[in-house]
Amino acid sequence: MFGNRCMSVSVRPERNEIARVLKLSHERGLLGEEHTAAIFYARAHLANRMQRCRAAFPVGALHAIAVKALPFPRLLHLFRDAGFGAEVASLGELEIALKTGFAPATIVFDSPAKTRQELDHALSLGCRVNADNFDELERIAGILDRRRELPAPSIGLRINPQVGAGTIASTSVADAYSKFGVPMEQQNERIVAAYARYPWLDAIHCHIGSQGCAIEMLVEGAVKLDALIKRINGRRAQPIRTIDIGGGLPAAYHAGAEDASFDVYASALRRALPHWWNAADAAVAPRLITEFGRHMAANAAWAVSDIEYVKPSAGLHTVIAHLGADMFLRKCYRPDDWHHDISILDPANGTWLAPGDTIIRVAGPLCFAGDIIGEVSTAAIPTEDHKLIIHDVGAYTVSMWSRYNSRPMPAVFAYDTATETIETIKQKETPEDLFKFWC
Ligand SMILES: Cc1ncc(COP(=O)(O)O)c(C=O)c1O
Repeated sequence: MFGNRCMSVSVRPERNEIARVLKLSHERGLLGEEHTAAIFYARAHLANRMQRCRAAFPVGALHAIAVKALPFPRLLHLFRDAGFGAEVASLGELEIALKTGFAPATIVFDSPAKTRQELDHALSLGCRVNADNFDELERIAGILDRRRELPAPSIGLRINPQVGAGTIASTSVADAYSKFGVPMEQQNERIVAAYARYPWLDAIHCHIGSQGCAIEMLVEGAVKLDALIKRINGRRAQPIRTIDIGGGLPAAYHAGAEDASFDVYASALRRALPHWWNAADAAVAPRLITEFGRHMAANAAWAVSDIEYVKPSAGLHTVIAHLGADMFLRKCYRPDDWHHDISILDPANGTWLAPGDTIIRVAGPLCFAGDIIGEVSTAAIPTEDHKLIIHDVGAYTVSMWSRYNSRPMPAVFAYDTATETIETIKQKETPEDLFKFWC
């Protein structure tokens, strides 16, 4: 039996659960010798986060899962079945959302680089679109002018509320400068004028950043957006009906670290902006859209890798693993900004290497020196009989897979603790797949 059958779900799958899932995967022939690495998603974790998200925000809110965080159709199904929408940022992600069965009206198309054809395609389907800038609004106006038969669209403009950068510059998008959206302070008048000019502009959008942005920052962005909405509504007949606050709720990457939560975020928003929750007057309260990815999925998955070699050098032991900068791009290229806890399992008896003084550096398989995914200090030196477990890999890891050195993307599994089922949701790539990629 798995250890975790009750409704309360810990921040990440616990060690006994991980050891048990690995054992079962071997026994059932899912993890043969050719699987030097694999990724496992715990369905209960995803379900728990979905449920918490829905409970925290107003009843009619549309929660659009950020497809960029976990683009697996067989996981996205779970979100669709739970009544979620999908946030997409490319034609590829749009196709994934459509093929997964999300209704177009629940798909939000964001991207700073939408072409005219892409806009035409998304509007024809009836997707929601958030324009990134004024030029994109002009393109949309042109399409709507030409194609009057199109269903009434829901279109927003992405605003940069300029609340500053979080602790990670490369994922902060609401500093004074950002490549995304329209800067609120410098372009306030022009934004208000655009909303006065285009009656079909019925939504407004902002997204502050992904990881490294405190809840206070997210709320500050929403409050600034609300002030702008009041100015806009004062200058046009139809008020803005839809407020899309993006994603950005952080995930905990260190064991024992305090976890942000949907509940804490939504409560802080509600205190600052009670009229967004105006349940007594549902006809007047705006509809909220959220676009969470990381907090929804990061803690739900762990990765396992074989240890191919252990090399003593310079006072530490370097373990050569089968996952590196191909899956952990952010960690390897910006090591000070990102972190994944690593544990070492002896699968023969389900025990874990205890903490100690031996420094184990975990290096990936790729041909460059920066291919290091972290260090862990243990009481003993691991061998090739051990397995590396890398925690919290459910968002922006395998979805950012890099093709350098043409190594295969590992198999991805989803398991259910209650029924003890383990399902392959994506097969390991073959050498033929890799050859085709480059042709
Ligand atoms: C526009 C937009 N929405 C939503 C998200 C999801 O953010 P997170 O995964 O941090 O919730 C992102 C991520 O970068 C984004 O760019």
